[in-house]
Amino acid sequence: MIPINKAILLVGGKGTRLMPLTTKTPKPMLKIAGAPVTEHQIIKAREAGISEIVLATSYLADVFEPYFGDGSRFGIKIKYAYETEPLGTGGAIANAAQQLELGENEALFIFNGDVLSAHDLAAQAKLHIDSNAAVTLHLVEVSDARAYGCVPISADSKVLQFLEKMDNPIAKTINAGCYIFSNRALKEIPKGSVVSVERETFPALLSSGQNIYGYVDGGYWIDMGTPESMIRASRDLISNPALSKATPEVINHTLVMREVQLHSSSKVGEGSYLESGVVIEANSIVNGSIVGEKAHIESDVLIENSYIAPGSRVTSGSKIRGEIFGF
Ligand code: GDD
Ligand code: MG
Repeated sequence: MIPINKAILLVGGKGTRLMPLTTKTPKPMLKIAGAPVTEHQIIKAREAGISEIVLATSYLADVFEPYFGDGSRFGIKIKYAYETEPLGTGGAIANAAQQLELGENEALFIFNGDVLSAHDLAAQAKLHIDSNAAVTLHLVEVSDARAYGCVPISADSKVLQFLEKMDNPIAKTINAGCYIFSNRALKEIPKGSVVSVERETFPALLSSGQNIYGYVDGGYWIDMGTPESMIRASRDLISNPALSKATPEVINHTLVMREVQLHSSSKVGEGSYLESGVVIEANSIVNGSIVGEKAHIESDVLIENSYIAPGSRVTSGSKIRGEIFGF
């Protein structure tokens, strides 16, 4: 078990690139592979030995607590931090940390709320502790780093620079959205003001000579910033259920929840996720898609790599490919 057992989950972003999916539901509460993104993350944290987690909420803050409560249903203690105005990633961390009683030499995990990752939290924690780092970032390698925080590191894993969303990235290693903060680094974030941990805190820590380490891990990783990546993540978790213990039982490579009516002439292909109460009439095909609760798919419909809104109706003969439908 890891010696770091407290965490903050950043779930307050507006999910602008996912609109209209996120008009009524914040991105972390959208369901993929049978559970909200946040639940997949919380279960992973619990499995690694994290016992207390604060959800740093802002946009559509009210929907988290009714679902997660005090966390007992999920085997972990869950608390909530609210922001009257969005405080940015750094401000959100400083605000949420007030709910945790951290010892002088204690460290905590911070998770971006829109990332699924199979990386080894214990190995990240080991690097943090062994190197007495101020902060240890999980890094992944990507071919195009422009949409991310570009993080060049030295041969001994020290972070050299932190360059958020640059046009000409100078390295392929990027910030994967999971940090370990030592208490002394946490104290550097001003409270009650809007702060970006990526644009302000990390560069400031580096220029004041503090050690930030990068833990590179090649395990499964996905950032769900777009509808396509959200649908892909759901498909990936269903195709490989070992990725998340929050995924319910997968049968025949598909995830079909309760009270689904599927006509015997219709087909549901690998990686699809049908929420409870879905109805699919005759001769329809659903491939690699998410079909929301109580959606009704009429006959002779083709749905591929799409996200169908809960309660929506897809009329007979429709072809829906790579779409967000009915939101
Ligand atoms: N509570 C709170 N308040 N949370 C926030 C706020 C805020 O004001 N702003 C953003 N967040 C949360 C989002 O909900 C998300 O979980 C996380 O902070 C990161 O914000 P995004 O808006 O998703 O940032 P990004 O995807 O453009 O970039 C970030 O993630 C990349 C990896 O996925 C950065 O951390 C990049 O450096 C990183 O590479
Ligand atoms: Mg993001």
